[in-house]
Amino acid sequence: VITHLQALKAAGGFWAYGATGSDVIYTLLPLYHSAASLPMRLCLIHLLIHGLINSGATCVLKKTFSASQFWHDCRKHNVTIFQYIGELCRYLCNQPTAENEKDHRVLMGVGNGLRQDIWREFLQRFGDIRMCEIYGSTEGNLCFMNHLGKIGAVGRSNFFYKLIFKYDLVKYELVREEPVRDCSGFCQHVQKGETGLKQLTEKKILRDVFVTGDAYFNSGDLMAEDNDDFICFRDRVGDSFRWKGENVASTEVTEILGEVDFIQEASVYGVQVPGSEGRAGMAAVIVRPECSFDGKKLFSHVLRELSLYARPLFIRLQESLEMTSTFKQQKFALVESGFDPCSISEPLFFLDYSEKSYVPLTSSVYDSIVSIQKKV
Ligand SMILES: *[C@@H]1O[C@H](CO)[C@@H](O)[C@H](O)[C@H]1NC(C)=O
Repeated sequence: VITHLQALKAAGGFWAYGATGSDVIYTLLPLYHSAASLPMRLCLIHLLIHGLINSGATCVLKKTFSASQFWHDCRKHNVTIFQYIGELCRYLCNQPTAENEKDHRVLMGVGNGLRQDIWREFLQRFGDIRMCEIYGSTEGNLCFMNHLGKIGAVGRSNFFYKLIFKYDLVKYELVREEPVRDCSGFCQHVQKGETGLKQLTEKKILRDVFVTGDAYFNSGDLMAEDNDDFICFRDRVGDSFRWKGENVASTEVTEILGEVDFIQEASVYGVQVPGSEGRAGMAAVIVRPECSFDGKKLFSHVLRELSLYARPLFIRLQESLEMTSTFKQQKFALVESGFDPCSISEPLFFLDYSEKSYVPLTSSVYDSIVSIQKKV
């Protein structure tokens, strides 16, 4: 439930960034996202719609995002502010360079997930646009905003901010998927520059964090604070990862893979693909003893049951899956080892739309994936 007060507070974001009634705001993210329970999106949509009503600005809506038409649209409608997610700016940078690409009135971009490398390239190509990164969630009790346009940061902390929004970064054990506790059972602050877990938001409330009886929300995000107090997003932990700008819930994908008759057990996680943002879906799968792997069957099941972004691109056959002491799937080693057939001895398969099947991932397939991703 999002109260009007929360929506109004979120609207403050646009005022804070200096939007006025004469601004033209271009939004190309589907509005149904506001109904989805993706907290960050929700925050953005609220910022956008309520911010607009507050400031009286004009909103330009686009049915689907088109990288090739983006700057044309901006010129046509005199757009001054656009909304983005990290991937969107990457897609714009991937477009062939045009002579008039600095010819527009866009002054500001508001969104989240913009990575440093794309951020630099974007400014260099399309001119001096103020990119305003926001980190926040509707159900969470904190929001970071990067007013200063510091590349790579989601916001900046200071003494007064910490007085109002008490937050902390604590050390996190990736293998065991829980915060590090010292011998007295308390969590530990991270050093400047070190990545830690921001202790806020839904799902899990951590108790006895720094003193007995205190409680923090666990946001599930890994973040770091640098020496100038800028706060940077590093990664998400646990059961979801981002691909194509969407959150993929690995538990959901795991369940759907489990419906296939020859699959005994699956473990779904995200792997980094050189040259692309986020993590591509991969599944470690145990095939039932009396069965064999059927790429075509799996392909049609995945196509029918999963959205484009959630379909595992890579499959890895396993004899067994490692478990933690609390019987949670141990994914850390799998994530780390990626999908390179040269370094993995188990059979690997790749989601091939042209073959309508999962086909063996050979070294040459691997090489072409990596080189295509780098070029795009
Ligand atoms: C954009 O600005 C120009 C120049 O100020 C104006 O002539 C034109 O009508 C504007 N276009 C729109 C769609 O508002």
